[in-house]
Amino acid sequence: MSAPGRSVAATVGALDVERLRRDFPALAQEVRGRRLVYLDNAATAHKPRAVLEAVQHHYACEYSNVHRGVHWLSERATEAYEGAREKVRAFLNAPDRREIVFVRGTTEAINLVAASWGGANLRPGDEVLVTEMEHHSNIVPWQLVCERTGAVLRVAPIDDDGNLLVEEFERLCGERTRIVAVTQLSNALGTINPVRRLVEIAHAHGALALVDGAQAAPHMPVDVQALGCDFYAFSGHKLYGPTGIGVLWARRELLEAMPPYQGGGEMIRQVTFEGSTWAPPPAKFEAGTPHIVGAIGLGAAIDYVRGVGLEAIARHERELLAYADEALAEVPGLRVIGRARERAGLVSFVFDDIHPHDVGTILDHEGVAVRAGHHCAMPVMQRYGVPATARASFALYNTREDIDALVAALHRVRSMFGR
Ligand code: ALA
Repeated sequence: MSAPGRSVAATVGALDVERLRRDFPALAQEVRGRRLVYLDNAATAHKPRAVLEAVQHHYACEYSNVHRGVHWLSERATEAYEGAREKVRAFLNAPDRREIVFVRGTTEAINLVAASWGGANLRPGDEVLVTEMEHHSNIVPWQLVCERTGAVLRVAPIDDDGNLLVEEFERLCGERTRIVAVTQLSNALGTINPVRRLVEIAHAHGALALVDGAQAAPHMPVDVQALGCDFYAFSGHKLYGPTGIGVLWARRELLEAMPPYQGGGEMIRQVTFEGSTWAPPPAKFEAGTPHIVGAIGLGAAIDYVRGVGLEAIARHERELLAYADEALAEVPGLRVIGRARERAGLVSFVFDDIHPHDVGTILDHEGVAVRAGHHCAMPVMQRYGVPATARASFALYNTREDIDALVAALHRVRSMFGR
């Protein structure tokens, strides 16, 4: 039940959340004798029956390798796999499905760009510009390629609320900047970055722009043409799809010019012992047997999310966040980390005298799943002078009752520590 007396607007969005929750078998479980309250969606989201059934059906009825066989099953599998690529294209509003590369996830997508594009294009003294709120997967691949090439990593700072300092970003973007790599939505702070503006700044300085959409894609409509970026990366598993599948979108001329990332079957045109030539993209970047069923499951997840409606999901989660902000403000001693002007999807918090891991463990005993840790964003923790935070992150199936349960469990944390 919702706590009375809070002023946040009456109903949560236009979603029929109770009906949607029934699509997710995992949510019906009890954990530790209590109703599962799953608030760890920024780490990974649960899967609707439509995704589970698509995966099961494909393995049971249409499974074979893709692009290789002349037989009936291989044709079915290839159609389903390429059909998933078209679903991703439409989801991102990309101009051409040949610009969609299936990868393991956002991490592999960024590593691919850093190694392939960065390895071929970065020279000593060139600069790569990231922000202080990036996930390790949008820092470390750039550090690796900077080490290899002599390029330099620059970091645009954030303010105390977790807003990117756009003027500083612009000041740091100079004639040596070859690429900027920015998150659209911070996994540690919930900040939504003004990505379109950041892309404009990059392009005005002749740099390319990569957007890490791992957290954004489940929470807001994405249109790569409207963003104007050059590369966009996201993961399937946070978007209600399978693990081990994700997407790199890149402008076609970039993919055509970039060297392969991995060598193997399917990515070649011709192989001799003297040398080899490459297939056109996306095959050039999909060496080996791909995660066929993962891609098909991701296609089913995209159908599901688009069926619910990303605008409606965004509205629902915005209202949940507002409700959570109000509710958490009533917990004595709790400090929210990240109060940017534009936020979505999650709230990070600490008690100054209780370690976040203890918070996470006690919440778990109350049936409430949150993440506690550095969230693979250690520089953000350093920025705020905390070792870790606890983080509640939302999905389309979360409710005000989930937040009430979180708040009740946080009061229990305090009482267990004698507060
Ligand atoms: N990057 C994921 C998170 O923020 C795993 O939890």
